[in-house]
Amino acid sequence: MGRAVVITGGTGGIGLHSAIGLARAGARVVVTGRSRERGEQALERIRAESGSQDVALVLGDLSDRAGVAALGDAILAEQPRIDILVHNAGMMAQERTVNSDGHELDFAVNVVAPHALTHHLLPALTQAPSRVLVVTGGKPSGPFDPSDLQSEKSFVPLVNYTMTKRAAEAMSIGLAEELQGRDVDVVVVYPGRASTAMTQAMTPSSLPWYLRPAWPVFRVLVPKDDGGKSAALAARSTVFAALSKSLAGRSWSYIDTHSQPGTLHPTVHEAGNRAIVMRALSPGATSATAR
Ligand SMILES: NC(=O)c1ccc[n+]([C@@H]2O[C@H](COP(=O)([O-])OP(=O)(O)OC[C@H]3O[C@@H](n4cnc5c(N)ncnc54)[C@H](OP(=O)(O)O)[C@@H]3O)[C@@H](O)[C@H]2O)c1
Repeated sequence: MGRAVVITGGTGGIGLHSAIGLARAGARVVVTGRSRERGEQALERIRAESGSQDVALVLGDLSDRAGVAALGDAILAEQPRIDILVHNAGMMAQERTVNSDGHELDFAVNVVAPHALTHHLLPALTQAPSRVLVVTGGKPSGPFDPSDLQSEKSFVPLVNYTMTKRAAEAMSIGLAEELQGRDVDVVVVYPGRASTAMTQAMTPSSLPWYLRPAWPVFRVLVPKDDGGKSAALAARSTVFAALSKSLAGRSWSYIDTHSQPGTLHPTVHEAGNRAIVMRALSPGATSATAR
């Protein structure tokens, strides 16, 4: 196939299985992660399971703007032309933390980083028509209320994570507008539930109080460890969204967990909500200045 793919957070979970699927399809795959050890292990596994040797690792941390810029430079050095960029790295913090830019950490990694990294990588993305995937999560059909965008009023891990994913969807629409005329399409993709490091780190306190009694049900839906089985299934929609010719030339699309075109909640598409998110993404903006 000869296409070059960069997958953030390709060292474990859904990202690793997306990397395996895309390497199997013949793409050159560059994965990013924070740990060399995890990264080298991932490369070995991608090579073994895909049969492809054309894989590379770039190390970097997406939790603040300086980290995004450093990772962006390292990616450009490794891969000067990118056909498909997959913003897969994501997190669900179990307690509220604010980074050096003044951003809540889930917001930083799930929303600020994909926006900033896309812009940093534009020299590589505009060498030829390209595609940027934004991996969403939480309940993708749910409503978006950006009134407490960085959970300053109250912090519940799953609620905050879900809101940052809605914000990432709104950001993706704003990003597609910013990229009009550049031949860079944006696709939001929902992988579906999987047992991964992120979901395994959840406890009953990750849920809002009214859902805590349902914790045993949640654990059955997302088992403690299934050896990557559910992550491999979840990665299928990312692989589809990365490769599908049917999405070529569409400025913005959404692909659901069944690899079908879907619809996001109307509140994600509301211009006012999008404007709040895009203001929060302008360099120098913190939660307070975004309002
Ligand atoms: N699991 C689910 O049920 C589910 C459902 C829907 C959507 N999703 C979404 O799917 C994506 C992958 O999630 P997953 O469940 O596979 O998670 P995971 O197993 O925890 O993997 C997360 C990946 O992101 C990387 N990462 C995390 N924080 C980072 C940071 N600050 N800087 C750079 N890299 C970072 C990790 O790399 P290192 O730790 O090696 O650095 C790892 O490779 C996320 O966007 C998530 O929101 C997951």
